Amino acid sequence: MLNPLLRCGLAVLFLGAIFVAADAAESKATRLTVSVDKPGIAVSPLLYGIFFEEINHAGDGGIYAEMVRNRSFEEPLKDKTIPGWELVTGQGGAGKISVETDRPMSAKNPHFLRLQIENANGRVGIANEGFRGSHKESNGMCVKQGAEYLLSLSARSSTGQPLIVSLESPNSVLLASGTVSAPGKEWTKLTCRLVATASGTDARLAVAGNSAGTVDLDMISLFPRDTWKGRENGWRPDLIQKLVDMKPAFMRFPGGCWVEGNSLEDAYRWKRTIGEVADRATVRNLWHYYSCNGLGFYEYLLLCEDLAAEPLFCINCAMSHTEMRTQPTSLDGVDEYIQDALDAIEYANGPADSRWGSLRAKAGHPKPFNLKYMEIGNENGGAAYKVRYAAFRKAIKAKYPEMHLVCDSYEPPADTIEISDEHYYSSPEFFATNADKYDRYDRARPKVFVGEYAVTQGSGAGNLLSAIGEAAFMTGMERNADQVLMASYAPLFADVHYKGWNPDAICFDNSRVYGTPSYHVQALFAKNRGDVNLPVSIEQPVAARPHTGAIGVGTWHTSAEFKDIVVTRGERELWRSDFSKGTDDWRLEHGQWSVEDGALRQTAVDKPCLAEVGDPFWTDYTVRLKARKLGGSEGFLIRFLARPDQERIWWNIGGWKNTAHGVEGAGGSDKVPGKIETGRWYDIRIEINADRIQCFLDDRKIHDCQLVSPKSVFAVAGRVNGTGEVVLKVVNVSGAEMTAAIDLQGVERVAFKGLRTVLTGPAAATENTLALPERVLPVTAPVAIDGPQFKQTLPPWSVSVLRVKAE
Ligand code: AHR
Repeated sequence: MLNPLLRCGLAVLFLGAIFVAADAAESKATRLTVSVDKPGIAVSPLLYGIFFEEINHAGDGGIYAEMVRNRSFEEPLKDKTIPGWELVTGQGGAGKISVETDRPMSAKNPHFLRLQIENANGRVGIANEGFRGSHKESNGMCVKQGAEYLLSLSARSSTGQPLIVSLESPNSVLLASGTVSAPGKEWTKLTCRLVATASGTDARLAVAGNSAGTVDLDMISLFPRDTWKGRENGWRPDLIQKLVDMKPAFMRFPGGCWVEGNSLEDAYRWKRTIGEVADRATVRNLWHYYSCNGLGFYEYLLLCEDLAAEPLFCINCAMSHTEMRTQPTSLDGVDEYIQDALDAIEYANGPADSRWGSLRAKAGHPKPFNLKYMEIGNENGGAAYKVRYAAFRKAIKAKYPEMHLVCDSYEPPADTIEISDEHYYSSPEFFATNADKYDRYDRARPKVFVGEYAVTQGSGAGNLLSAIGEAAFMTGMERNADQVLMASYAPLFADVHYKGWNPDAICFDNSRVYGTPSYHVQALFAKNRGDVNLPVSIEQPVAARPHTGAIGVGTWHTSAEFKDIVVTRGERELWRSDFSKGTDDWRLEHGQWSVEDGALRQTAVDKPCLAEVGDPFWTDYTVRLKARKLGGSEGFLIRFLARPDQERIWWNIGGWKNTAHGVEGAGGSDKVPGKIETGRWYDIRIEINADRIQCFLDDRKIHDCQLVSPKSVFAVAGRVNGTGEVVLKVVNVSGAEMTAAIDLQGVERVAFKGLRTVLTGPAAATENTLALPERVLPVTAPVAIDGPQFKQTLPPWSVSVLRVKAE
């Protein structure tokens, strides 16, 4: 039987072809018929939102405008140095610095800095270079001439000396200076206002004394006065403006894996992130830095309010990132986390005189934030998650039945899941192929939140083609917006010098910011969403291309050997292995390959180790071979239809920790239970006939699947209730310009002028950068439309949005 699922999974392989240059077939007319007279489902108003994670310095060193890194000295010493800080001495001065803990300023942040000035000839102090990344080109602090900066610090000293504060460039040019009055013998909070007399993008902050003695310092903080809405403890306005421009309907926060933590000790616990900033714990972030939580639970809720976005708080469910799969199913210790969830809701929504609501009111927000959505865990799963989800759900629904809960897996019983969070990171081909995924989705399944998705393969640092692939997928989500209630691209922000994940929607350094093409696609879709869907049918010429490619073998965390490999077409032998000649004709990608006893052996227990051979233009062939597992946790990977620079397709035999066999191509997979024994030779056969793939193990048929033809054009349309406009979004994923004949069916008259926005670029690989931030930008212009039938050009690799008033 042909497997309908795989129809989708395998299509990705061949879509590769549609992302390359134009061919004759694709330049023929494409017809788009929009049934304006047959409105369909109402579109979920939450469909396009954002996912903010504290990753890539999105928060600390990012939107959180604090300019000092490691302001409370909580980061552990690195090679005996204090991260972010160094001793500075003027000519003739001498002193030393250390991190101490005796009688700290805050029990929750117990470390502070001790500055011992031994010889005060010239200044002796400390300097902080801000969030300078590990990258050699990255900068220190950005200081702008004429701008004001607010310094605050806590200090104690018996020297009675005032402290001199300065902002200076690396070559010691003074950009701003000021003095804070002498601290007392006990911890004293001191402030100082600095006005920059010159600019610099590589500045540092220095705090120094000029007489001998000891000064203890903590919470040394520097903010520009110019923060978003001028708030204290505020955010970088240029970065927040980028979010405003996206018009997000919701914001999921604060992670991601950041919520899970590497261990539960580092997990995101919101109670550690509220109240006085000096008392908020600095926590190790599994994305390889420390977070001071100045951007805390309150600030996230406030940010959602500023963006008019529904807050969706993703809470830790007593499972950490590393321990996730080994976590016990017992609920010991989980109560505390459930209580956190209940208290978070009270903090956000409770009356100003409730226990937790009063803390929100004290922070400056007596009115509730109206939190309605909470996600239980992030990417957790398995038996331990199942019991935790049930326990969280029971407790939350009992107290707050109105809360909408998001489940991060399909393991709990479907009738207990209101919304399920799905994540996809893959290739442009995967997303384009799966643009119809939700058309075929079983409506009996829970509603969907596509909480994280992005093209991560072949994406450079975020290129046009990736954005176009995502756009194709988004047309499918929107067309099925009765099922897909919410969606958010991931990750949102990255400091270009501190990338823990690539690509990201918004990239910045200490003074500049730009949106990747994916960012612009997100904003385009969010701003051009109909309220009610209009059915669109698309007729497009599909290039009939032969499915071609070479063959290969490989392993995943396994050592194995392969022999007697033969490729035939009908009676004709195309190729036969001969390892007596070594492996010269093989393309070895990864692993430790050798020839032993006439077989090709791979011994590195790594992932994935591949060897490829043959002609990328072979069509309609059968590959036969023998394979034997020698050790490790999985089985074999047999490649077929392998072409350079294209999505990998393989038969994974004994994959998924030796529990299943599956034909996989870019995320799509036809999977059946199965395993491989160590030490036994298996006969493997794959038959490729036109678009049919059949896979046999020891002559037993395991898979029978069909390849589908690639599409180039994807579209979704809707009607805006207030204005009566028809909004049509058309995505051309191919490298060919097309002419689309558009028919607005059921429409008598259209307003002569419509609006057309097009996002495209000179090449599929085009990216925006800090230096060239506008290479890929949406361009909007009026467009003349003379009736319900008209033509539009669809540029290569483009998203076109048409807004037309129709009667
Ligand atoms: O978006 C980056 C990471 O991808 C998120 O932290 C995690 O949820 C996913 O694995």
